[in-house]
Amino acid sequence: MVASVVERIPSAGTRPLAVPPAGSPLAPVMGDRGLPIVGHTIEFLDDALRHTRRYYEQLGTVFWLSTLGGSWVQVIGPAGLETVLANRDGAFSNKLGWDPLIGAFFDRSVMLMDLQEHRHHRRIMQQAFKRERLLAYLDMMNPAIRRGIARWEPGSAFHFYRAAKQLTLDIATEVFVGAQPSPEADRLNAAFIDVVVAGQAIIRADVRGGKWHRGLQSRRTLERYFHSQLPAKRASDGDDLFSVLCQADTEEGERFSDEDVVNHMMFTMMAAHDTSTITLTMMAYYLARHPAWQERLRAESQALEKDAISFDDLDALPSMDLVLKETLRMNAPVGTLARQAIMDTEIDGHYIPEGTKIMLGIYVTQRMEPWWRDPDTFDPDRFSDGRREDSSHKYAWTPFGGGSHKCLGMHFGSMEVKAIMHQLLLRNTWRIHAGYEPVLDYGTGPFPGDGLPIELRPLRPIAPETSDAKSS
Ligand code: HEM
Repeated sequence: MVASVVERIPSAGTRPLAVPPAGSPLAPVMGDRGLPIVGHTIEFLDDALRHTRRYYEQLGTVFWLSTLGGSWVQVIGPAGLETVLANRDGAFSNKLGWDPLIGAFFDRSVMLMDLQEHRHHRRIMQQAFKRERLLAYLDMMNPAIRRGIARWEPGSAFHFYRAAKQLTLDIATEVFVGAQPSPEADRLNAAFIDVVVAGQAIIRADVRGGKWHRGLQSRRTLERYFHSQLPAKRASDGDDLFSVLCQADTEEGERFSDEDVVNHMMFTMMAAHDTSTITLTMMAYYLARHPAWQERLRAESQALEKDAISFDDLDALPSMDLVLKETLRMNAPVGTLARQAIMDTEIDGHYIPEGTKIMLGIYVTQRMEPWWRDPDTFDPDRFSDGRREDSSHKYAWTPFGGGSHKCLGMHFGSMEVKAIMHQLLLRNTWRIHAGYEPVLDYGTGPFPGDGLPIELRPLRPIAPETSDAKSS
């Protein structure tokens, strides 16, 4: 591997990020700055896939670029992802990686912690994601889903992404915060969206009127709200996440301080929101584009003969499972992860000096040839028992990350998407208009920038799958 990397001839204009120590068998990481000031940020936000494929052709699985205000080493491919995510020699820091991107809004969250401190907080937080907790969340979620979908007005230009965003916010209000929908809840939702949007802003400075500034103000609004509710939550034994984080403790009696609860609430709501919304929306898109799959899922849901799924039903919807996995492969909602090297180390035969900032390309890895066959084709059966294409490498399919920071809400997120999709399949059919192609923007991962207009109808049979059935 090292030899093949060293022999690769980088194109003109690229230069090494750092020169490996004398006698080192490692290759330098090659790359370039791109445009003055913005570097490659705009190209990446515009089409990360096309851009990364081009660099991979020239420079292989590890290269550096200027983006988001600094030089970042891009790592793609399962082997490199494993090196960094498994972090066996402790060379990579989550905190230092994520801090320049979202530290202003999500400092002291579990994702921005390392080593012993991270283990301590994660151990307590895990109490909120145990099986019995998930059962209770699902019980709270199902009525909220029923009410939410009942408000959807079928029509020929139904903006699915917007509706899904509102629905997941309403669910979060009840399941995470333990509050009922109200004007105050709407104000909190708006503040929460400001914080999420600010973390993805291109101009990352506290300029009055800018997204960053609004995000900081909104963060303070949410902090005040959570602090004001803390005494009541500490005293309650409610099933919402807020109450559960207040009560959570380990066998050794470790618990969260008030500050910890507020910080973890803020982050968990962010971590859950966009991810579930994007997954649900893109899944709806694929089911619209491939009506035979929509019918297959609907038949499974109807066969359950239940208006809403229970926890045990989650394994009784095998086609839903396949489609969910394929959706997460094609459109990883957290498409890029950040790290920083805290000692000299190596990735895929490349020299990575201490202090190097690293971006892990989850989305692009799951959409590239050497690691997936026909990666742009929607083919849920690739995950079926007979094929299991994801088993080519432990880190080939990593929409939830891996190693010690692997997503804590993995089961929660999957459960929420399935619970919503089940009710929707029983209630509505949907399709896209002929010739429609989604407009994908890039935030934490790809998302439909045009709101995904679909034709939503009350349930009736839909047209058979057409010849484009296997395209994306
Ligand atoms: C489809 C939905 C979701 C996807 C694709 C997803 C993806 C991810 C990924 C890739 C990470 C790893 C970040 C890193 O290593 O730097 C992560 C971490 C995390 N996620 Fe999720 N997530 C989803 C839903 C959720 C939900 C619903 C929750 C909470 C209810 C949640 C809570 C968290 C938390 C707390 C972490 C930090 C874990 C740690 O650092 O120890 N996620 N998620």
